[in-house]
Amino acid sequence: MATGPKNLYQKCREYRDSADARAQGFYPYFRSIEEPHGNYVVCDGEQKIMIGSNNYLGLAQDPRVVEAACEATRRYGAGCTGSRLLNGTIKLHVELEEALADFLGREASILFSTGFFANQGALIALTEDGDAILCDRENHASIIDGCQFAPGKLIPFRHNSAASLENRLKRLPDEAGRMVILDGVFSMSGDIADLPSIIPVAKRHSAMVYVDEAHSLGVLGRQGRGTVDHFGLHDDVDIVMGTFSKSLGSMGGFIAGNAELVEYLKHKSRCLIFTAALAPAIVGGVMKALEIMQEEAWRIDQLWRNTRKMHEGFKRIGFQIGETQTPIVPILIGSEAKAFVFTQRLFEEGVFATPAIYPAVRYGEAIVRTSFMATHTDNDLDRVLEIFEKLARELGTFDDPAYLNPGRRKNTFDFSLSNPVAVEAV
Ligand SMILES: Cc1ncc(COP(=O)(O)O)c(C=O)c1O
Repeated sequence: MATGPKNLYQKCREYRDSADARAQGFYPYFRSIEEPHGNYVVCDGEQKIMIGSNNYLGLAQDPRVVEAACEATRRYGAGCTGSRLLNGTIKLHVELEEALADFLGREASILFSTGFFANQGALIALTEDGDAILCDRENHASIIDGCQFAPGKLIPFRHNSAASLENRLKRLPDEAGRMVILDGVFSMSGDIADLPSIIPVAKRHSAMVYVDEAHSLGVLGRQGRGTVDHFGLHDDVDIVMGTFSKSLGSMGGFIAGNAELVEYLKHKSRCLIFTAALAPAIVGGVMKALEIMQEEAWRIDQLWRNTRKMHEGFKRIGFQIGETQTPIVPILIGSEAKAFVFTQRLFEEGVFATPAIYPAVRYGEAIVRTSFMATHTDNDLDRVLEIFEKLARELGTFDDPAYLNPGRRKNTFDFSLSNPVAVEAV
């Protein structure tokens, strides 16, 4: 019997995962926050310690940042109603681009409406058919998706492995342009890109180096200049990408580099040309946050004190926190269901954290992703540790095979691309 053409709506009708998790009482997504206060939030009328944000310096709710956003709105309006290229550029955009370039010691920068678009926009515009994008396997989804849509071919290398990178690079023909791209701080594992090992390999093979500083701005380097600055490798990195959605407390992204690169992107990046410019409120707020970040050194100092306290505290209890070196602390749980249950119990006990499951992490290695802030108090952090310890006992976390066989991490990670043909087998 003819059934007619395929119905694209069918998969939506059949999708049950979220409804099942809700029915079982541990659905962890789209939780509605009534009052964000930085280190704590109010949900359903109850206060929760927030350890699930990327608001590392506590600037998202800073009254000076909020006032700057309001002032920009009063002056320039609620939105720009068009692309930067055409009618959407206001003086504030240009000032922020100059401030970022100056801060990072680059000739120029260009703003994008999200960090996701910055990565996609740059990768699509800069590579051509036959070029190779050498991509750390644990890079963020915006890079992976950017590679998928870019004309250049995605070639993954083993996480933070200069040897694996070398292996890939030496097989490329001379005609292939090469770009090596990696997160400065990896968003799930919290480890830092091994630029001192990776960059010499990239240079030996004439590859352009591109570093995504989303989680390192405001965290590493002088006054929060990021991983490239942390290692003092400015001259060896061609492209720096950053976001405003973490330490700078807002949203949006940018690419910084030499003037020719930025000029090219301004005229060739579809992710910039065919979308509306960042709203004045965002630009005004980010500009103020960037100023505060440079003026108030205590924030980064306190962020690192809190980070060290939590690394030590979780390890003392017996949690596996992987290779993290930063305020992102992944708490290995194991199965996805257990990670959901752990997250839900945390919430009930007054802690807001988020689970991360495949494909954000490897199969069978679901985590509760925690991240810490400059504005967490000792009381907040002690309470968090106390609750984690109590729940690990209650839920038998340490009886999970992941804890019994800590060396079993296998590189089963794939990128869940809709078009896996673009990925060279590793
Ligand atoms: C490493 C990395 N790059 C890029 C992005 C995308 O940034 P945005 O959220 O500003 O679009 C993120 C966001 O989580 C990220 O973690």
